[in-house]
Amino acid sequence: MEKLKPYLEANKERFLNELLDLLKIPSVSADEKFAADVNRAAEFVKEQLIKAGVDKAEVCTTKGYPIVYGEKIIDSRMPTVLVYGHYDVQPADPYELWNSPPFEPVVKDGNIYARGSCDDKGQMYMHVKAFEMMVKNNVLPCNVKFMIEGEEEVGSVNLEAFAIANKEKLKSDVVLISDTSMIANDVPSITTGLRGLAYLEVEVTGPNRDLHSGVYGGAVANPINILCDMISSLHDKDRRVNIPGFYDDIQEVSKEERDQMARAPFSLDEYKEHLGIDEVLGEKGYSTLERVSIRPTLDVNGIWGGYTGQGAKTVLASKAYAKISLRLVPNQKSDKMMKLFEEHFKKIAPPYVTVKVIPHHGGEAAVTPTDSVAYKAAAKAMEKTFGKMPIPLRTGGSIPIVTMFEKVLGVKSVLFGFGLDSDAIHSPNEKYGLFNYYKGIETLPYFYQYFVQMSAGV
Ligand code: BES
Ligand code: MN
Ligand code: MN
Repeated sequence: MEKLKPYLEANKERFLNELLDLLKIPSVSADEKFAADVNRAAEFVKEQLIKAGVDKAEVCTTKGYPIVYGEKIIDSRMPTVLVYGHYDVQPADPYELWNSPPFEPVVKDGNIYARGSCDDKGQMYMHVKAFEMMVKNNVLPCNVKFMIEGEEEVGSVNLEAFAIANKEKLKSDVVLISDTSMIANDVPSITTGLRGLAYLEVEVTGPNRDLHSGVYGGAVANPINILCDMISSLHDKDRRVNIPGFYDDIQEVSKEERDQMARAPFSLDEYKEHLGIDEVLGEKGYSTLERVSIRPTLDVNGIWGGYTGQGAKTVLASKAYAKISLRLVPNQKSDKMMKLFEEHFKKIAPPYVTVKVIPHHGGEAAVTPTDSVAYKAAAKAMEKTFGKMPIPLRTGGSIPIVTMFEKVLGVKSVLFGFGLDSDAIHSPNEKYGLFNYYKGIETLPYFYQYFVQMSAGV
């Protein structure tokens, strides 16, 4: 292990430049305009795995974008770590809010600015480089398998079928994922829970065509007004979701866990200042950290209809639309919650409009253990390189495949993320700290070392 530090120092620049090359590929999975680039990113990852020292790597085709698989088996009796990550990224829109173009990475003030720098190319690539370091210095202590997908940002639609068809190939003792964040660079943490997701779109239709808002306005229901009424009825005065049954399936979190959460370092003032808001808003009776982790929510992610171009056009639209996400907590089932929403939304539709509800993707919440060998090895690795024991913390994002891997492969995950909430993932000016990138590369080999030692009972 002593050899790794000088190797990292000597190769720092190359490690960064390779990541920058990957960030230049606009692998936006949501927009088919980028299809060729998404495929190109898969090839890039495969080539880099080969250079880093895997025995074999392949680009596995699916009904959607391919999954890159690579492995190095040193001894079938040794433990196997399955590394999961994604090479696809969110759309970069709105482009005009970026200080530099999203696919022309810029290194400035210790950060890499580019779409995907943190989510998840930067974090995924740390694994490729940590692996390279271990292989080239002959200290890889166990088997490694890589599964890097290209559809995470659109719901990992083909991953379950791939996992079912490749159970043997993916056989492993732990899934290691760096696709989450830590509390701060000097407050390491490990994510122990993620929320589930149900994503839907609604369409509200009024009159059979767009109408002149002077000629008809006041006499005909305006679908945009009605949609707004319907949406605002979905929360009560305590900011609880106003859908009957919405909270029924939740497992209450124990007082101990809530107490532990309250001890996590968190400054509400800094949080507000960072977001440029004077007050926070959320479900009554819960702290901000609880609201974004152990409580389910309903949010409008987009709303449109009528005229949104330049200037004014006096029009009552025939249709209004919204995209809505429900974030779910353990035991709430995504399918069931979609149905619950759909039934309720149709029920509250007034007679002047018709309503369509279109379910998109979903995924289940996850809770990962803190008493497993893998968790303990990850915590010890962070303690080694950060000089502090990480805090276990449930957070609010979703990685639906965590529960899927557990179900299909019977393997639990460690959510070993090195990003920060302030990295602006999914937003303009996404960034990833050089500190975080290199710290991840430095920390991961210790995970392998401790995981193998602790698995053997050493
Ligand atoms: N890496 C994120 C999830 C995440 C971010 C978890 C930060 C914890 C902290 C992932 O790429 C993502 O964006 N997931 C989507 C869900 C997916 C089904 C589209 C999400 O959470 O919106
Ligand atoms: Mn991600
Ligand atoms: Mn994401």
